[in-house]
Amino acid sequence: MNEDTLNHERIEKLRQRKAEIRMGGGEKRLQAQREKGKLTVWERIEYFFDAGTFEEVGAFIEHRNSNFGLDKSRVSGDGVVTGFGRVNGKLVYMAAQDFTVLGGSLGEMHGKKVAKIMDMALTNGAPVVMLNDSGGARIQEGIGSLCGYGEIFFRNTLASGVIPQISVIMGPCAGGAVYSPGIMDFVAMVEDTSYMFITGPDVIKTVTGENVTMDSLGGGEVHMKRSGVATYVGKDDESTLDWVKILLSYLPENNDSVATRTPSKLPQLSPMELDDYVPSNPNKGYAIFGVVDRLVDAGSFLELQEGFAQNVTIGFARMDGVAVGVVANNPKQLAGCLDVDASDKAARFVRFCDAFNIPLLTLVDVPGFLPGTDQEYNGIIRHGAKLLYAYSEATVPKLTVIMRKAYGGAYICMCSKHLGADMVVAWPGSEIAVMGPKGAVNVVFRKEIAEAENKEIRAKELEQEYTDKFANPQMAASLGYIDNVIEPNQTRDVVINYLRSHINKRQITPRRKHGNIPL
Ligand code: HXC
Repeated sequence: MNEDTLNHERIEKLRQRKAEIRMGGGEKRLQAQREKGKLTVWERIEYFFDAGTFEEVGAFIEHRNSNFGLDKSRVSGDGVVTGFGRVNGKLVYMAAQDFTVLGGSLGEMHGKKVAKIMDMALTNGAPVVMLNDSGGARIQEGIGSLCGYGEIFFRNTLASGVIPQISVIMGPCAGGAVYSPGIMDFVAMVEDTSYMFITGPDVIKTVTGENVTMDSLGGGEVHMKRSGVATYVGKDDESTLDWVKILLSYLPENNDSVATRTPSKLPQLSPMELDDYVPSNPNKGYAIFGVVDRLVDAGSFLELQEGFAQNVTIGFARMDGVAVGVVANNPKQLAGCLDVDASDKAARFVRFCDAFNIPLLTLVDVPGFLPGTDQEYNGIIRHGAKLLYAYSEATVPKLTVIMRKAYGGAYICMCSKHLGADMVVAWPGSEIAVMGPKGAVNVVFRKEIAEAENKEIRAKELEQEYTDKFANPQMAASLGYIDNVIEPNQTRDVVINYLRSHINKRQITPRRKHGNIPL
């Protein structure tokens, strides 16, 4: 067979061209990226995907703008690499911004590339991961870049609840750019090298006179501990991408599928120890993680938003190899009360699990909603209602364990039978009542105590009477609001039995366009 020289020349040219494109903004800028402690866009892609599986889409796309000399900086790819590949064998779509090309800024064609890959992810029912590293709207392109953002936000919304969407902030993410991650399901950030804000330190200084740094305004710690925007903050690019891969392992590809089941594993710590783990004194705190580690498959708990609203703990885990969403009051923080932030945090997670067929395991030890003007002024009515709403509308298997306290509105809110829980079991020491004994006695028997010879002794007697009658699981169990009172050490087995028997749960809900969750 004769070698066709022209064909070979063409192939060689193509190879050279592709090699040039992979250099993005050039060696100097790639080096500057590395010096900041960041990987380059291709290093990130290669680190993330299974070796040799990434298929690039749109490598030759260029912008078509010549404002302010932009025609002199036309780089193929236009500052974002898009494509798809496999992560531990699973199909995942990606748009990864390249800061070395015009600061990763988003112009018309850059926006269209991202929109196209989102369309492909949606059509083919696979998760989309966005790596953000960008100076925001490409200033020279004006409306072109605004249009690019708008089209992305529109698709983020269409894809919400259909395919999982994960945003990874690996550099700047400023201005309107923050709203794509803002709509997406999970936001991972990288410590020290990433930040997110709608207006930067300079604008803030001009408008309000405040002095802030990028980090104190929108760094990883701020978004993990204060704003609740970040789901996870990693130490560097590699560990953050590793975390995203772990997260993906709990998620189904889309809302019509279920997460891959793995072999069942015994818990890290013995479930027998649960009999003694939770203190019988209702005023004594304990870390909820001790319960989780004795219930779920060893090493499977992936906590989300761990630094935010720590009075409620959320995360994915596996029980009998099945991915579940865990929502638990954490009595170590604010006695496990529900407040504005905890309600938001739990409600969004419940909705994610419901949208993606992930059963919910709710662990209850809640003294109530946090009282005070701060909470009332900040809208605890509106925010608490979100959690009620989210649990009520969820149709995935809903399994609830009442461990100790379950008082008032918070009892109802934490996935009670009244909100459609499929299983509610309680431990023998649970107190299910409108409020705790002290508060109840002060309201109901105020007069009687005031008239008693020894007020303190009478109050104690009445508290005991109240505790014996109401603050236990018997009454709720006799009315069928609790399916069973169980020994704490049996909890894992009971939850797994219910999980297995609810795996094909079907629930028809009334026809409607959509509900109106109190936002
Ligand atoms: C065009 C941009 C750009 C932008 C950066 N560059 N941001 N080009 N549009 N938005 C270019 C720079 O000119 C520079 O080009 C290169 O990218 C690298 O930028 P540097 O400034 O040298 O990098 P660094 O010192 O690391 O600073 C990064 C930065 C800074 C903090 C992000 O570049 C910056 O403040 N950029 C502007 C941020 C901004 O205001 N964006 C608009 C937000 S408003 P050369 O050729 O020198 O390498 C917005 C509205 C969206 O996004 C609304 C949507 C709804």
